[in-house]
This record gives sequence, structure tokens and C-alpha cells, in this order.
Amino acid sequence: MANATQITVKDSGPFLVKGPMTLLDAEGNEFSVDKETVALCRCGASTNQPFCSGTHRKIEFESVVRAGESE
Ligand code: FES
Repeated sequence: MANATQITVKDSGPFLVKGPMTLLDAEGNEFSVDKETVALCRCGASTNQPFCSGTHRKIEFESVVRAGESE
């Protein structure tokens, strides 16, 4: 799985997406992604959607999830 895309749910932060990806909006238009790793907003408050702008820290977003703990 060397080329598999990896998505990490950061504690009280964004989704970190690393690896080959195509990022589309709801209409199928592609976002320009020129990095190997991108941070996607999980808190909903980013000023640069769908990317994380760091605003999660300002709003004190809290969410800690662990695999296997959801229903
Ligand atoms: S997760 Fe960083 S701004 Fe939303």
C-alpha cells in the first residue's frame, strides 16, 4: 500500500490527506492541489474552505476520535 492515500483525523484539527488525490467540489470541479499533503477543514470555520486555515484553534474546536470507537 505504498501509494495508498492516507487520511489522518487530527485531534481537534483538520483531516490530513497525504498521497495521490483528486479533490472535487460538489459540482465535480477540481481544486488545485500542488502539495503531497493537504489539510482539509473538519471544524467548518475555515476562511479558506475546503482547506484548513487554522481557525479551529481560534474557535477552540474540540474533537478527538479514535478508530474503533464509533458506533
Ligand atoms: S479544521 Fe482547521 S480551520 Fe477547520
